[in-house]
Amino acid sequence: MFGGFIVLALLAATALAGNFYSDVAPTFGGQRVQISDGGSVLSLSLDSSSGSGVESYNQYLYGRFDVGIKLVAGNSAGTVATFFLSSQGSDHDEIDFEFLGNASGQPYTVHTNIYTGGIGDREQQFRLWFDPTEAFHIYTILWNSHNIIFMVDGIPIRVFKNYISEGVGYPTFRPMNMLASLWDAEDWATEGGRIKTDWNAAPFTATYRNYVATGCAAGGSCDDAGGWESEVLDARGRKWIRWVQKYHMIYNYCTDVDRFPAGLPPECKLPRF
Ligand SMILES: *[C@@H]1O[C@H](CO)[C@@H](O)[C@H](O)[C@H]1NC(C)=O
Repeated sequence: MFGGFIVLALLAATALAGNFYSDVAPTFGGQRVQISDGGSVLSLSLDSSSGSGVESYNQYLYGRFDVGIKLVAGNSAGTVATFFLSSQGSDHDEIDFEFLGNASGQPYTVHTNIYTGGIGDREQQFRLWFDPTEAFHIYTILWNSHNIIFMVDGIPIRVFKNYISEGVGYPTFRPMNMLASLWDAEDWATEGGRIKTDWNAAPFTATYRNYVATGCAAGGSCDDAGGWESEVLDARGRKWIRWVQKYHMIYNYCTDVDRFPAGLPPECKLPRF
């Protein structure tokens, strides 16, 4: 049905598999960062004293980033697992996938955001159409000069177009690292902080595997395997993103008029896909 996207995701995942031993360094959490299976599996854990995280050694200026993630099972309320790109500094650019845990049996929230020049406020949130704690699913950030596409199992859930010509911020020149983490955000993550982390259930663990980064080295050469540099949504992609946004999107900053009394951000008035 959605062959085009799935084929791309698989191509990227099989042809150019990364290795966590050589691709990332721990940023916090010490022994809570575990790499196994010859470098193909990364597990991040969280307990009452610390979460954990990693950051890529490489920096990229555009690229496609795929990773399989199996989220915290059971009562994951208060925990947040992340997979994101970020540059350095207060005026940084950032492209975020964040997975907000929930009480047992309640759905995860997939939170996405885009920062340009240090300014975010572009959240969209989704529910998944499967249980993300049962198996690995592939989460993708595709960032090229035309658009940023967030995908889940090859299905586009969000696109942020390059509308620089219309005065909208877009990340074009600050190199980014790939980061992943698992941390405690009980003050806001689950039902706005109403449901706290159950430390009796700790340690919490999220597992990442089959990480593939195909991109342009900052100031250097590009690997365009899979054709990500020119990828934009085609008719099929637009059909899928409409389906996701109609049935699975639970928050969109572009419809939150109360939040922007001076008017919605300019990109919200431009064609979405
Ligand atoms: C957790 O589950 C509740 C009840 O289904 C839902 O309202 C909430 O949005 C879910 N997610 C988070 C992150 O709170």
